Amino acid sequence: MTSKSSTNMADSKASLFRSDLKDKQAPTIDISPRKLMVALNEGCQDPYQLIQKDFLKRLEQLSLNRYMSPTTDLLHQRLADYAGVKKEQILFGNGADDMLYHLFLAVRENAQSFALSLAPSYFDYATMCGAVDLGIRFLDMRADFSFDVERYIELAQDPDCRLAILCNPNNPTANLLPAEQIRQIITALPDKLVVVDEAYYEFSGVSFVSELDEYPNLILIRSFSKGFSAAGLRFGYAISSPQNIAELWKTQITFHTSSLVKAFALCILENKELFLGHVQQIKALRDRLYRDLKELPQLIVHPSATNFLTFSLAGKSDDLYNHLQEHDITVRNVGSHPALKSCLRVSISCEDAVNAFRDQVRAYLAK
Ligand SMILES: Cc1ncc(COP(=O)(O)O)c(C=O)c1O
Repeated sequence: MTSKSSTNMADSKASLFRSDLKDKQAPTIDISPRKLMVALNEGCQDPYQLIQKDFLKRLEQLSLNRYMSPTTDLLHQRLADYAGVKKEQILFGNGADDMLYHLFLAVRENAQSFALSLAPSYFDYATMCGAVDLGIRFLDMRADFSFDVERYIELAQDPDCRLAILCNPNNPTANLLPAEQIRQIITALPDKLVVVDEAYYEFSGVSFVSELDEYPNLILIRSFSKGFSAAGLRFGYAISSPQNIAELWKTQITFHTSSLVKAFALCILENKELFLGHVQQIKALRDRLYRDLKELPQLIVHPSATNFLTFSLAGKSDDLYNHLQEHDITVRNVGSHPALKSCLRVSISCEDAVNAFRDQVRAYLAK
């Protein structure tokens, strides 16, 4: 091969994929795992241990040689019952992220299209928008995590804004957004989709599900990763009007969720009281840790409606992070936005983990 033809090959290689991908990064996760992983808002109990018997029974009825699974319809119905809506109002898939990804895909009209989010908010909105070449713009929250709702509406009224997303409660600030402001946004934008990400719904107990009939432009996103402690399962769902769900469905592939995942998700719903009982325990642990951290000098901890706490230690958060790493504890650094300057985030999982974390923070301060 001549050098000329190899240059041509290299040039043509560059154009094999969408041109915007050239400047984008593949999703990576910037944490160093340690024995005690309290960085990703996961539960500490493997749900398989809780519902193994039921799942194995369901597995026996599965035919993995088949595309179609008898559990699909049943799961759809159980999910609708759990959410308190009609079956036609639900679309499920491989995690809340997968639902968001398809939503972004479904609204992108052209290269100018963008989604609007608050900042700081869930990191992966930008990642998923990037994957489908949908732009993303942000409105910064204030230091107290409030935001200028009029400005948010103004930014969303741009004709190229295809979707406004609100994370409620918001990750990583942990707070609920004022319900009246969310309603104000939905009402002011009747021609835009407004997405409320309720990934932490089981912890906050707050949902806009009962208002879906009133707001045809509203879509809710939920997850099994948090309240049902099943992050590795990869299961989530969208709730909206039957019309919106029908449109969103068009971006899905035909057999999009594994029969194994569907069977397991069904078993979770059939044992939901067990999981929701754990949610109560986690909330109690979270509130106890909040009180414990609040007592520590110089440590600022923010109120939470989720399964995590966000905190900082005046000028020493990085050092505390390193101390925790040295003691086999990984928390998440979420301090990249000015409203969360040098903040860290710790997931609330089981009592031992919460105690080990608290004791190491105390040990650091006693040094
Ligand atoms: C706000 C928010 N939305 C969505 C997700 C993703 O959920 P899933 O694991 O179901 O994809 C997360 C995960 O941390 C999250 O914090």
